[in-house]
Amino acid sequence: MALIGVFDSGVGGLSILDEALDQLPEHDYIYLADSANAPYGEKSSEWIAARSLALCQYLAEEGCDAIVVACNTATAEAIKDIRQKLNIPIIGVEPGIKPAAMQTQNGIVGVLATEATLNSDKFNALLATLPANCQFIKQAGAGLVPLIESGEADGEETLELLAKHLEPIQDAGADTLVLGCTHYPFLRKAIRKLLGDSITLIDTSEAVVRQLKRQLEDKETAHSEDTCGSVLFMSSKDEVTLLRMAQELMSSDLSAYAISAKYLGDLQ
Ligand code: DGL
Repeated sequence: MALIGVFDSGVGGLSILDEALDQLPEHDYIYLADSANAPYGEKSSEWIAARSLALCQYLAEEGCDAIVVACNTATAEAIKDIRQKLNIPIIGVEPGIKPAAMQTQNGIVGVLATEATLNSDKFNALLATLPANCQFIKQAGAGLVPLIESGEADGEETLELLAKHLEPIQDAGADTLVLGCTHYPFLRKAIRKLLGDSITLIDTSEAVVRQLKRQLEDKETAHSEDTCGSVLFMSSKDEVTLLRMAQELMSSDLSAYAISAKYLGDLQ
């Protein structure tokens, strides 16, 4: 069995952890939420890169065999450096603009992500590889992450803000919407309420976990698929709230796992 670190600025990466528990329940996990510093998306590239590296270094020192950077923003700003510094598989998350370009029928795709992700070189380099006949309507979801962090994913204020952010995408007639931040799958219900059932929502968590699975197979980690492993929830803000939110937001049955929670103090 492997010990897998899953890191995000907050509760967003729980959408990836949920999928990981579904596909790879037998492993042990440390979920690390840097909620004291969320949102990352409006911080400088330098800050995001340094903080993300420090947290991944911490996970590696805790004995993780692989780390999922379950945050589009941290992946965009820091993954190259993290891979250079750490000698374990590092799996990142990118907005699914490639699958969106393949699935759209009318060639109009909305991309909802953080400002840092949309402005990053990594995202723009990926965008440049896609067919010019596909139109991408990019929209920063400013203010959404703090609302999700405070447990308001289905709240009225969230719905109103989301409606404002989705307006240009709706006006352009997009038939596909990329959820380019790991917090946003928790807005699925609100998005459906606003945009209806016909729009295709692209969330890459399944593909990310498939990639994690391949990397673990490459490492030949022994495993047995019959048992459930453990999950340690760590937060830089409040581990009790993190655990409660995990129970509320995730569809996995956490009672099948050995669960614990811990406060992440100051990193050395
Ligand atoms: N969950 C994050 C992402 O995927 C970061 C959101 C934030 O902290 O701004 O981009």
